[in-house]
Amino acid sequence: MNSKTNSADTAGLDIENLPSHVAIIMDGNGRWAKKRFLNRIQGHEKGAQAVRKVVEAAREIGISVLTLYAFSTENWQRPKNEVIALMRLLKKFLASEKQNLFENNIRLNAIGQIERLPGDVRTALQKAMDATRHNSGMLFNLALSYGARSEIALAVRKIAEKTVAGEIDPGGITDKVVAEHLYTARMPDPDLLIRTSGEMRISNFLLWQIAYTEIFITDSLWPDFGRAEFIKIIKEYQSRERRFGKV
Ligand code: FPP
Repeated sequence: MNSKTNSADTAGLDIENLPSHVAIIMDGNGRWAKKRFLNRIQGHEKGAQAVRKVVEAAREIGISVLTLYAFSTENWQRPKNEVIALMRLLKKFLASEKQNLFENNIRLNAIGQIERLPGDVRTALQKAMDATRHNSGMLFNLALSYGARSEIALAVRKIAEKTVAGEIDPGGITDKVVAEHLYTARMPDPDLLIRTSGEMRISNFLLWQIAYTEIFITDSLWPDFGRAEFIKIIKEYQSRERRFGKV
């Protein structure tokens, strides 16, 4: 049987060679707004619409894990009104998407310093995670107040505590043990990392997990990113040869 899909925009997509885990650095909301003489908040609102479209496309194609970088630990340093607007937008998104995620068999998960989020956002997040916890389709990770260095430091702390308690032998601290103490424990590493808005940076995102990840940078600003470009990048990914350091 032909494993290539046949619907219009997925024609040529090899469903047997899909990336299991796709991670995205969503960048360019501010520039998108500036180009239109809008304020940055309006750019983020449009960005939230792009999130809906990409989550839907990823689920439909059959991606197992989608991780979106929605708010970094560094983003707390943005002007107060922008942080408040982003938190409000996040809360609205979680409330409005909860049912949709549930019906589409998507399980929502959050990675990052969730305890730093305002109480009302944490409540909305918990409700959406609880509502979708038994779903078995795509895992949708939202990186919130996330920073990879803090994630690794936290893992080191947990491992040190277990070592002191005699639960882990220092000689037994392998790559696998470290990975098991990250927020992404038991998840496959990203196969594909996409960054929008043309910046050639990783910005403290999934530093441990992207050791062998294929990286795609697109000039599109996040609010302009959608299903068609997402599928195009996955097709490009499928044409790359991954060697994982071997010949
Ligand atoms: C980068 O744009 C984007 C962010 C800071 C966060 C991403 C947020 C969203 C997509 C909207 C809300 C998300 C959800 C899940 C509802 P930027 O402000 O850095 O853009 P710029 O570099 O052009 O200024």
